[in-house]
Amino acid sequence: MTDFLTINDILIRGKTVLLRADLNVPMQSGRVTDHERLERLLPTLHDLRSGGAKIVILSHFGRPKDGKPDPALSLRPVAAALETILGQPVAFAEDCIGAVAEAAIHQLSVGEVLVLENTRFHAGEEANDPAFAAQLAALGDVYINDAFSCAHRAHASTEGLAHLLPSGAGRLMQAELEALNHALGSPERPVLAVVGGSKISTKLDLLNNLIAKVDALVLGGGMANTFLAAKGVAVGASLVEPNMLDVAREIIAKAAAKGCEIVLPKDAVVASALKAGVATQTVAVSAIPADQMILDLGSQSVKEIKETVASCKTVVWNGPLGAFEIEPFDHATNQVAIEVADLTKRGKILSVAGGGDTVAALAHAGVTHGFSYLSTAGGAFLEWLEGKDLPGVAALRQAVSKRKVGRAIL
Ligand code: 3PG
Repeated sequence: MTDFLTINDILIRGKTVLLRADLNVPMQSGRVTDHERLERLLPTLHDLRSGGAKIVILSHFGRPKDGKPDPALSLRPVAAALETILGQPVAFAEDCIGAVAEAAIHQLSVGEVLVLENTRFHAGEEANDPAFAAQLAALGDVYINDAFSCAHRAHASTEGLAHLLPSGAGRLMQAELEALNHALGSPERPVLAVVGGSKISTKLDLLNNLIAKVDALVLGGGMANTFLAAKGVAVGASLVEPNMLDVAREIIAKAAAKGCEIVLPKDAVVASALKAGVATQTVAVSAIPADQMILDLGSQSVKEIKETVASCKTVVWNGPLGAFEIEPFDHATNQVAIEVADLTKRGKILSVAGGGDTVAALAHAGVTHGFSYLSTAGGAFLEWLEGKDLPGVAALRQAVSKRKVGRAIL
């Protein structure tokens, strides 16, 4: 990928780098409960420090109402957690613009890290207000965006800033974009997409985009029920979106026209209710009892999906295949995830996963580190799967073309 600059391309020595990170981490009772996003920031922090930059981190946290400060959504505890993970002091400033931020930056030496308070404490952030973006830009010399997971937001710190300073991608953004490009941009074929989750209605754009790009599409989760129903299968008491039946038929027809094979369940694990300890049975999809609901794929379906995975070179995964939160309905997701991880480890396939419940489902299957790339982005990953040009990424590309350089030197 050469359509955006990286840390290697921009002179950072002695400069103040405004680093847009995603510090929007899960927190309970003032403590960070999942450090994954902080850990993934370390390569960028390392390279900026060793490159001789002063590092000023910008991020939002949560969704403060009306662009006003909310003490419950302060980034202070996240800065403290980052300090522990980084193993060096991390300073904190109680505002992300103006005199408070300027004074804190003034105190910084080369290699030191400062976190500024939640950018969404100012209405100008979400409005992408040019005046607010200019106030942010005034604080530094260079803009590095390492927040792919926020790139679907056209906000001042994710989009506006890239037009005001020499700009490039951090290591995490770079890794994410490279992985996504390998998966769908210029993938090794055949490409398989595995899509689960409960509803077609929330993944319409995603399905339409994928059938145009992949060679096969495995459907699981509740959305597969609607596709089965659209094909005239009686799915008993299963979750179905009746108003999506025509849409499902259209997708099936479009996929056939584009040469994309849709793989639907052949058998299913059914029960009378979604609860732990309930009696289950595995039946062919042609024999689902009227009072039972589909809660997971059956063993024949799992076998077929594993074979399909093994016949591909690239796998893109979004969404669980069954109601994985409650055993034994995690079986299909676990089995297919383990197979993908195994084939990835053996160098047979490239695998990329992300979005929504996917990280939780793959963590549950014990394969968090088994995929070629597991994105921690939720909404941004989904919008990318939908084929949208993400504003934060587009701005980095435009930053290159505006300067008309292959290598930007300050
Ligand atoms: C995320 O957690 O997905 C990102 O930080 C984006 O957060 P947002 O949905 O509040 O913009």
